[in-house]
Amino acid sequence: VPTQIIHISDLHIQNEDSDENRHLLLIVRKIIAEYQKEVSFTAVLITGDMVDDGDERQYKRARQILDPLYSVGFRVFAIPGNHDYGKDGVCAEAGRFEFFKSSFLNPADPASCTFPQMARFGDHFLVGLNSMQAECGFWDGLLADGELGETQINDTAVLLDALLERPSSQKVILYLHHHPFLITDDGFIGFIRNVYERIGHSLKDGEMFMESLRGKVDLLLFGHEHRHLDFSGTRVSAQYGIPIILSAGRCTSVRKEYRVKEDGRIDKETVLNEGMLGRLIRIEDNGDVSFKTLVF
Ligand SMILES: [Fe+2]
Repeated sequence: VPTQIIHISDLHIQNEDSDENRHLLLIVRKIIAEYQKEVSFTAVLITGDMVDDGDERQYKRARQILDPLYSVGFRVFAIPGNHDYGKDGVCAEAGRFEFFKSSFLNPADPASCTFPQMARFGDHFLVGLNSMQAECGFWDGLLADGELGETQINDTAVLLDALLERPSSQKVILYLHHHPFLITDDGFIGFIRNVYERIGHSLKDGEMFMESLRGKVDLLLFGHEHRHLDFSGTRVSAQYGIPIILSAGRCTSVRKEYRVKEDGRIDKETVLNEGMLGRLIRIEDNGDVSFKTLVF
């Protein structure tokens, strides 16, 4: 039996009826319509920003909209992003994580609420991280950046080391909210973006983290940038020794997927897809991995 992962990100669910809420409802319906028959080997993986302000009512709405996925039997894996921790994603409060836990994790099982967390799905290992874990201090909590923290990076390394001896058909899929390396754009826009990234949008300990992954991870998945990109086979994937690196755009709004050039920069001339975007990743029994963008 193959293994399938539907990767979506950045739902940004609101209290009131909003485009985001309506779009997610539509996405949930489409996933069920198309993949329910494959539910036993298909997981839905959501890389954070479930809600827009870390608000308790928003969490309830988000869970309510996603509930049909759970009830038809999809395994759903979710991790938090900066917007799950506070208003507009720029003032993180640790206490908001409690709402995340009660909506998407199992508070009765503390191990399910700590990161890194590893789950088995099919023959494979899904390792989820919380890129807000070290980001909730008085100053740290400001702006939209993230920080895994030394403890989480070290714990992840220990966990990944223990998987090094696995057969090559068993894949390690690592996922987090923040993009762990700088996504570079050309020209003046690129310059401004890079300043903005460095001030308050990136993963502060991303470089250290990426270095610690070399040769240990088969797929790296993230969101946060709202840009739907495939870095596989580029300079980025060679630099960190990770064959497949994918970011998912903000699935609840219309986005363009651009081609990523060999040097890791974005080719704005080439639009590959446009719409509400997600991805389907498929791992065959022999370990062959393929993926495609889903336009919901
Ligand atoms: Fe985010």
